[in-house]
Amino acid sequence: MFKRFRPRRIDEATRRTHRETFLSRDDFIWPVFLVAGTRVVEDIPRMTGVCRYSADTLIDALSGLVCRGLRSVLLFGVPKEKGVEQAFAADGIVQAAIPQIKKRFPRLEIITDVCVCSYTPDGHCHIGDNDATCALLANIAVSHARAGADIVAPSDMMDGRVHGIRKALDEQGFPDVAIMSYAAKYASHFYGPFRAAAECAPASGDRKGYQMDPANSAEAMEEIAADIDEGAAQIIIKPALSYLDIIAKARARFALPIVAYNVSGEYQMLRHAVDTKLCSPDIIEETLISIKRAGADRIISYFTPYVVRKAQL
Ligand code: PBG
Repeated sequence: MFKRFRPRRIDEATRRTHRETFLSRDDFIWPVFLVAGTRVVEDIPRMTGVCRYSADTLIDALSGLVCRGLRSVLLFGVPKEKGVEQAFAADGIVQAAIPQIKKRFPRLEIITDVCVCSYTPDGHCHIGDNDATCALLANIAVSHARAGADIVAPSDMMDGRVHGIRKALDEQGFPDVAIMSYAAKYASHFYGPFRAAAECAPASGDRKGYQMDPANSAEAMEEIAADIDEGAAQIIIKPALSYLDIIAKARARFALPIVAYNVSGEYQMLRHAVDTKLCSPDIIEETLISIKRAGADRIISYFTPYVVRKAQL
């Protein structure tokens, strides 16, 4: 006597009946790079098919995606000149773009990156002191909330910043603006292409003094628990693919939404494999579903436009 598994795989309809995980457009968050000015669409050499947009061209790009079911974007501001004051300026790149995007797409969820690495001259995610950085991050978060952001996403990995941001948002009258924190963000080499796109590579040193050691797993659970305690409503694990075990472990432990960031290096490696015909484009879906299967509720991915345009999802 043996068990027959093959009958459940005989055709697509039957396979679909037995399928445990599905990707949906709803799961996806599109990360975008915003620059000042108008009519700007710049290719990013190290991220095939990914561009930097000014607010007006981003709105054009969004119009083709929102009507197909895109429901969420994550905005990264890339300033021309360095200087942290711009990160919280009322007329900063991100702050100026939000009302324009909201006006055109009122139901599109707007998440903003809260960090200073694109604004600091040395490219680090802090200004030296941990606690002074938290106060600065709280200012940035409030400026995004004031502009109309639905969710703020601190990506700096300073200690206590979720607490500081939550407190500032509540005090300034934004109790409904949620925090999606990068709770377990590893010091990863998979961020390489992004740093060129956001012009935020550290001028010297690395980020190992604040981002997590890739060898650690239990510590990620401590980091996540701390952020939830401090007021995070959703937590990000980043990168995604080499950290699927962390996603699965967090899923077993925490009930709130888990977001996986399928980062720039992961994107570009797959793009390269597809573009050079090393692998079928179907590896994209296979890879993204592995992130969902591991336990992520939401996926931040540069593949979002591709997924949203796919007919069968
Ligand atoms: C910086 C930031 C980084 C990413 C998102 N926010 C880079 C870094 O920490 O060095 C990486 C995203 C990606 O690689 O797609 N705060």
